[in-house]
Amino acid sequence: MHHIHINQDKFISQEPLTKRKEFGQYFTGSKIADFMAKLATLKIPSREICILDAGAGAGILGISTAYQAVQLGHKKIQLICYEIDVAVLPLLEQHLQEAKEDLHKKEISFHYEIRSLNFILHPPEEHFDLCCINPPYFKYSSKNSPYARSTKDLFKGDPNIYALFVARALDRLKSEGELIFITPRSFTNGLYFKNFRKYLIKNSSIEFIHIFTSRKEAFKHTDVLQENVICRLRKNKKQQDIQISSSYGIEDLHLI
Ligand SMILES: C[S@@+](CC[C@H](N)C(=O)[O-])C[C@H]1O[C@@H](n2cnc3c(N)ncnc32)[C@H](O)[C@@H]1O
Repeated sequence: MHHIHINQDKFISQEPLTKRKEFGQYFTGSKIADFMAKLATLKIPSREICILDAGAGAGILGISTAYQAVQLGHKKIQLICYEIDVAVLPLLEQHLQEAKEDLHKKEISFHYEIRSLNFILHPPEEHFDLCCINPPYFKYSSKNSPYARSTKDLFKGDPNIYALFVARALDRLKSEGELIFITPRSFTNGLYFKNFRKYLIKNSSIEFIHIFTSRKEAFKHTDVLQENVICRLRKNKKQQDIQISSSYGIEDLHLI
């Protein structure tokens, strides 16, 4: 995935900061993408596995998850990518096509579809087995934004765009499907997130949490200053023990 990392860094360095902020566009580096993808455990090799990447950017998370599905024994993979920034679509298409050619050489059937749609305002109708996301992060106006009350079928309130992504992605999973995501560590803190919190607890079990203890390390190539957390949830499963790991940043991630 290193070549995707290099290409997306080049892309983002040519984009104005204002646009990056508008889209909440902070790409995942290859080491974190690899770590997140390897959290996927779902084995249903008898049928096609359907993967969702919502806010796909250059495709690093969806493609890493597809390769992890191969490691888990899957031979038929479908990947659906949602992305609203039309400027990044040619790069996304290029990376998906390269993955398709490489996987076909390994006799893996890999189909992908890019949906140049707003994932929150035009969510998919189908349900997925696996979803691996780094959602955009920004606040929006609960009065004027088109996002206001856009997930009112799931929970009440208007927290932050990343919570809408996590909740909608969970909604679009099949029962027992896996949702892996990276967000700020405080992603469910406080009163604003109360109903979002309740929605997650009611509809999934938290299986795994990884904490980055450094505020700068996870997205050190960007101006993001957040303590990040990576989680894996499983839809409609009763809560059991949670596996927890931590690292200072990216460089010691391989020690987990
Ligand atoms: C934090 S970036 C992550 C990109 C990529 N998944 C990665 O991990 O590198 C979020 C992505 O979501 C896209 N995005 C923002 N709002 C969106 C929306 N409502 N629907 C679909 N994509 C959106 C942004 O353009 C951006 O590419």
